[in-house]
Amino acid sequence: MGKIYKVVQWATGGVGGEALKAIIMHPQLELVGVKVYSNDKAGKDAGMLCGMPNTGIIATQSVDDIIALEADCVSYMPNLTDFDQVCALLRSGKNIACSPFLFYAENLPSAEREQLRAACAEGSSSVHGTGIHPGFVGMVLPLALSGMSRRIDKILIQERADWAFYNRPMITFDNMRFGHAFEQVTFENHPFLKFNAQIFTDQIAMLAKAMNLKLDEIKIDHEVLTTDEGYDIICGRIEKDTVHAQRYLWQGMVNGKSRIEIDALWTVGGKYPEHWPQPKDGWTVTLEGDPSFQTHFMALASFENAAQCSLEDHVHATETATAMQVINTIPALCESDVGIRGTHELGSVYSGLGMQR
Ligand SMILES: NC(=O)c1ccc[n+]([C@@H]2O[C@H](COP(=O)([O-])OP(=O)(O)OC[C@H]3O[C@@H](n4cnc5c(N)ncnc54)[C@H](OP(=O)(O)O)[C@@H]3O)[C@@H](O)[C@H]2O)c1
Repeated sequence: MGKIYKVVQWATGGVGGEALKAIIMHPQLELVGVKVYSNDKAGKDAGMLCGMPNTGIIATQSVDDIIALEADCVSYMPNLTDFDQVCALLRSGKNIACSPFLFYAENLPSAEREQLRAACAEGSSSVHGTGIHPGFVGMVLPLALSGMSRRIDKILIQERADWAFYNRPMITFDNMRFGHAFEQVTFENHPFLKFNAQIFTDQIAMLAKAMNLKLDEIKIDHEVLTTDEGYDIICGRIEKDTVHAQRYLWQGMVNGKSRIEIDALWTVGGKYPEHWPQPKDGWTVTLEGDPSFQTHFMALASFENAAQCSLEDHVHATETATAMQVINTIPALCESDVGIRGTHELGSVYSGLGMQR
């Protein structure tokens, strides 16, 4: 079975709760701590927070208590990233595997890059960001397809998602700004949208590096559309004349040509904009070259029993997938070189829980 790694789960929302369950079940991981934000979760047994038997590990709101713990890794999944906290965890000797961000060393502002590198050096630790997208779809899938190529002219990653069924009001309304007035939804003046724009910029930079392609620049285009009628979604209401659709187009440019593209086509119910591209719901990855490939990817609770599962179960499958991509990386991350680690530097990620008889 190999070495056992001591792990802390940091935050227990849709993704973090699934990660917590997986750590408890994973044969190579031992849960040693849980950090929560909510008053009603503090003091509860970790098992109770994710529908598992009691573990004897009690959730705490104290950052200092977590930093003082002896642990190999923190599975870091809060809603908002606190950069200083990340550095403190790294300095305390804990590796960090996380879903909220995707630090890519060469693309970070130099002050942050040096701060992060210094924290890793002090703690002999490493940090790695991943998930379903960014992470799996934006990096693992295109890299896997690229193994069958002689020449790659362009990589296009499309995500078409209707957030109307995603029951996470903090992410939908507070972070992504759906349901707000048009002029409030710019990544230049909203910190989370700026942060989000950076995550996918980093993803393009990381993929270009792995593909040995030197980019001249990464361009971002942001189109924001409002709805002409109000309606309810699973976690709130989208009022008339507020934002219901956002398209982000990231383009990695070489000599004026877009060579790596991420096209995020995001709506929260209402009419799908007719002038947008019309890929299938989910993710479509296209490699144009010699030869060319296209694959469509989606996560559901079940394909064989799809009709018996609720819509919520199917939507939740993407959160479980995000959690598992992070959790299954932990053993490789704990054994990796010190510093900021990209997907291409950690090797293939397989399920540590394997197939059950
Ligand atoms: N890479 C990917 O593919 C991918 C996919 C999905 C999500 N994500 C990211 O993963 C993270 C977790 O997503 P989620 O779906 O689990 O979100 P969520 O369900 O909305 O959960 C939010 C989490 O944030 C915590 N929280 C509450 N107040 C906070 C504060 N002031 N500062 C920081 N955190 C606070 C909550 O703590 P409690 O433990 O007390 O509830 C909860 O665990 C987000 O950053 C999201 O953007 C990444």
